[in-house]
Amino acid sequence: MSSSSTNMDRINSFLAKFPRVELANIPTPLEKMQRLSQHIAGPMYFSKRDDLTGFAGGGNKARQLEYSFGDAIRCGANMILITGAVQSNYVRSAAAAAAKLGLYCHVQLENRVGDMPLSYHQSGNVLLNKLFGASSSTFHIGEDETAADANIADIAEVHRKKGKKPYLLTLSPTTKPLGALGYMRCAGEILDQLQYQKQPIEKIVVASGSAATHVGILLGLRLLGSEISVHGICVRRDKKQQTSRVKGIVRLAENLIGCGHIVLDSDIKCHDDWLAPGYGKMNESVHEAMTLAGTLEGMIVDPVYTAKSLAGAIGLYRQGVFSNAQNILYLHTGGMPAIFAYENEITEKLNKGLSTKHPNYKP
Ligand SMILES: Cc1ncc(COP(=O)(O)O)c(C=O)c1O
Repeated sequence: MSSSSTNMDRINSFLAKFPRVELANIPTPLEKMQRLSQHIAGPMYFSKRDDLTGFAGGGNKARQLEYSFGDAIRCGANMILITGAVQSNYVRSAAAAAAKLGLYCHVQLENRVGDMPLSYHQSGNVLLNKLFGASSSTFHIGEDETAADANIADIAEVHRKKGKKPYLLTLSPTTKPLGALGYMRCAGEILDQLQYQKQPIEKIVVASGSAATHVGILLGLRLLGSEISVHGICVRRDKKQQTSRVKGIVRLAENLIGCGHIVLDSDIKCHDDWLAPGYGKMNESVHEAMTLAGTLEGMIVDPVYTAKSLAGAIGLYRQGVFSNAQNILYLHTGGMPAIFAYENEITEKLNKGLSTKHPNYKP
């Protein structure tokens, strides 16, 4: 490869053997969060706007599904089966991708977050799944990834016996990590943008759930020789569980692309201070992040993933973990539809605090 090749060219040549369909509208913008940074009075925060990947409402899952659907088509699948939380953006994006590619889609919605209002079960991503024509079933056991995966595998078996060719989309830590490949490409895109903008950054902060985004960014950066540190903000599991999950998937991904062991164990950084009271549940730092993003940047972050990761990006500075960093990149992974599933809780909070606590308010 010539010396003038871009980081994106280099990543693409590593990934050339993996089939991919185009879904995401890229490159997404990489921009300063000027007013939010002034408010925090610490480092300069930048945002990589993967909420603007465009496809079916945007978000990180568009990049990940490019490789999963590439593989599904290669396998000759004619139906997609997917499992995820009730308000899963992964499920919504997969339902849309199946529609675009002319495949039947069935979604299994896991009832992971107990005690939620009707809007949680009807609005946001649930409504969009229906709009994309997917059929759905509910998996009532809450937090059990293995059981949920086994159940959707049973449903696939029923269809297989009827002569269909189902393709299963699950994200357990033993699944082939195709989604991470999409974020290796994003790492190349980020490095090219930073080079073009002559803008160094020292840290990247990202929501860490299934860990496909976290793993892909970290592995992509190291493959391209970048030492930028990557901080995963836990959105589903505690720090210990998530660190071990990320480690396992990093090793699978390294094997998948055949690059050898290039990510050090010490490179894997997970933080769980913004997780409580648990997956899909809001806390004070989530409300603060949503309000700051909205009122200072005109930017939407969602209650399940991106408000927690933004709270982490801000919180790590406040804790002193980022005290020596000048420039921090927040990877905005989307999730906007879920705002409408949490409308009661968000409205109640805004009605209580906004008029006096609004950062733009001057009496
Ligand atoms: C909006 C959003 N951000 C972040 C994540 C976490 O990404 P990953 O599953 O790749 O860890 C998800 C996962 O569903 C998501 O929907």
